[in-house]
Amino acid sequence: MSEILSIKDLHVSIQDKEILKGINLEVKPGEVHAIMGPNGGGKSTLAYALAGHPKYEVESGEVLMGDQNLLELAPDERARAGLFLAFQYPVAIPGVSMANFLRTAVNAVKGSNGNGEKKSVPIAQFRKMMLEKMELLKMDRAFARRYLNDGFSGGEKKRAEILQMALLEPKFAIMDETDSGLDIDALRIVSEGVNTLKGPHMGVVVITHYNRILSYIKPDYVHILINGRIVLSGGPELALRLEDEGYDRILEEYAQEGS
Ligand SMILES: Nc1ncnc2c1ncn2[C@@H]1O[C@H](COP(=O)(O)OP(=O)(O)O)[C@@H](O)[C@H]1O
Ligand SMILES: [Mg+2]
Repeated sequence: MSEILSIKDLHVSIQDKEILKGINLEVKPGEVHAIMGPNGGGKSTLAYALAGHPKYEVESGEVLMGDQNLLELAPDERARAGLFLAFQYPVAIPGVSMANFLRTAVNAVKGSNGNGEKKSVPIAQFRKMMLEKMELLKMDRAFARRYLNDGFSGGEKKRAEILQMALLEPKFAIMDETDSGLDIDALRIVSEGVNTLKGPHMGVVVITHYNRILSYIKPDYVHILINGRIVLSGGPELALRLEDEGYDRILEEYAQEGS
């Protein structure tokens, strides 16, 4: 069965303030969607609401993945169902090696025998998996021995995130990118990683303020999120139009509807 990530009329508030005012979005497996928009428009709110962050109150609407209602699931169950979220601000965990962290993540998300019982992936099998993915992503093996995000460069944080994504093999990956924070090295790592991992079984939503990343990750669809609504959807040409015009023209056009 081909599962579709389907967001219908999603309203989300933070501390009683409505931030998302009816988001509609459908992502099919294998598709890459970009969500672009000015700061404060609600892009990260959408990512956090999909993740199930308790601070983001879903007032109404639906989020389905296949026939599963994601909104009824706890955050860890959403991950188990195949949703992966890469966040703008990853945390450092000194004293935990990449390999250990990744094994814990894989066990949490994939370690189940189908009867709801937890079952961890044997170390040797995990190691084999990890080395395969590292090779696929052209990563140095020594990276697995590093401590998670502790003293990592921007590029290394992104590499850790991509490796985690590769191991979890999600059905849908949502990436809320730092807009100004990514240097060219980090940008290339994320993009090459996504381009390597995307395929008929994984849909990707790239959230970004700038279209810089979209010259590395080619989106099939581009959506403009302003003031809690997707005001415009189109193909890759929409990102180019933004490059030429900036958000001002679009903001002017949609100011009434967006307020
Ligand atoms: N944790 C929070 N507490 C209160 N308000 C928030 C919080 N996070 C975001 N907001 C508000 O929600 C709106 C949308 O923010 P956000 O989703 O971060 O936008 P974007 O990612 O597009 O820049 C902004 O007006 C912001 O001030
Ligand atoms: Mg944001």
